Amino acid sequence: MKTLFVNIGTLAGITEPGTLRKQGREMDEVQCLENAWLLVEDGLIKSFGTGNPPRVEAVTVDAEGGMLMPAFCDSHTHIVYAGSRDGEFLDKLRGLSYEEIAKRGGGILNSADLLHRTSEDELYRQAMERVREMAAKGTGAMEIKSGYGLNPEDELKMLRVIDRIRKTYPGIVRSTFLGAHAIGRGYTHEGYVQAVCDMMEDASRYADFVDVFCDEGFFTVEDTAHILEAGARFGLRPKIHANELAVSGGVQVGVKHRALSVDHLERTGDEEIEALRGSQTMPTMLPGSSFFLGIPYGRARDFIDAGLGVALASDYNPGSSPSGDMRFVMALGCIRMRLTPQRAFNAVTLNSACAMGVSDITGSIAEGKRADLILTQPGWDIVKIPYLHHTPFIRQVFLGGEAY
Ligand code: NIG
Ligand code: FE
Repeated sequence: MKTLFVNIGTLAGITEPGTLRKQGREMDEVQCLENAWLLVEDGLIKSFGTGNPPRVEAVTVDAEGGMLMPAFCDSHTHIVYAGSRDGEFLDKLRGLSYEEIAKRGGGILNSADLLHRTSEDELYRQAMERVREMAAKGTGAMEIKSGYGLNPEDELKMLRVIDRIRKTYPGIVRSTFLGAHAIGRGYTHEGYVQAVCDMMEDASRYADFVDVFCDEGFFTVEDTAHILEAGARFGLRPKIHANELAVSGGVQVGVKHRALSVDHLERTGDEEIEALRGSQTMPTMLPGSSFFLGIPYGRARDFIDAGLGVALASDYNPGSSPSGDMRFVMALGCIRMRLTPQRAFNAVTLNSACAMGVSDITGSIAEGKRADLILTQPGWDIVKIPYLHHTPFIRQVFLGGEAY
């Protein structure tokens, strides 16, 4: 099956085959072609160019001057959750902080109680609504975490739901075991850390990665090292929550354990930038949670100026970022973190794909990659996406070459 896109105003986000991430000044570049065409064969990008399109038998899509770009990649989400936490939203408006809400038994534990009472089918149904919403907003690839189970049965229930999404959604899904999201009810701190290590073998049947909320009031650096070592025994590479609530040491322990990414990073000093230099770990910032919680934004510019790459992701979850809109993430990256639109574009496409280990197959326009694409309305460009941040811009999303 072949699809030929013609009359593309701008084909944006082209990379050389083999480019897996962008770092430092590379983040300033987004390679584009004007007046372009692109040929898809069997769901993959076969070829592209400018001028006259090739004469091939194919379904033709007339882009009518619209921009064609890689679909967004969202490397950090918690979209398998039950119900909503709007009561806590009201608490927050009354002045309680995220930590205070958590201490009163709200927060993650509240979601765990709700999830416990919700059937697997119902959880899948609710999560798929969020997946469809994200895809409609342009997200092709997404990572999804467990972490609202907090006991062996319910963590596995979440991982099975993520697996079911992976099997039914035509975009890319990667799965992360986040048993260490909070201390499960009825456990001591030490007892729960051990329980998470003991869940690892079963979790590794479904999960690609292991995550720990390494932060003040949650899990220490020592807990984190212990859990990551257990994960490594079952082939799970770390992607961890670090430095959201405090300078936690999470970045350093993540880098030491070859984490694919360290995420949040709202509170980092120069030591964290130093620790990341020369590593394979992708610093990932989640401006949606800074926005929603009213906490600092990550120092993305300093990271990039130090020669590092940065990814941006949504953190879509009911407590700190109830939105999976990657275009809004890109806008916050520009408006609040003062990234250029080009840097933000690279951060929500190729680098976010890299932060979930899929930048070899998606996240940019390159021969042989999956045709996970956003076709925009005519007249759009990279600057307008964050600038006109709530004007509808998507004409059609394609996942593996198929209109979704
Ligand atoms: O990434 N920081 C930890 N976990 C989530 C919040 C989860 C929740 O509040 O339900 C986050 O912000
Ligand atoms: Fe998170």
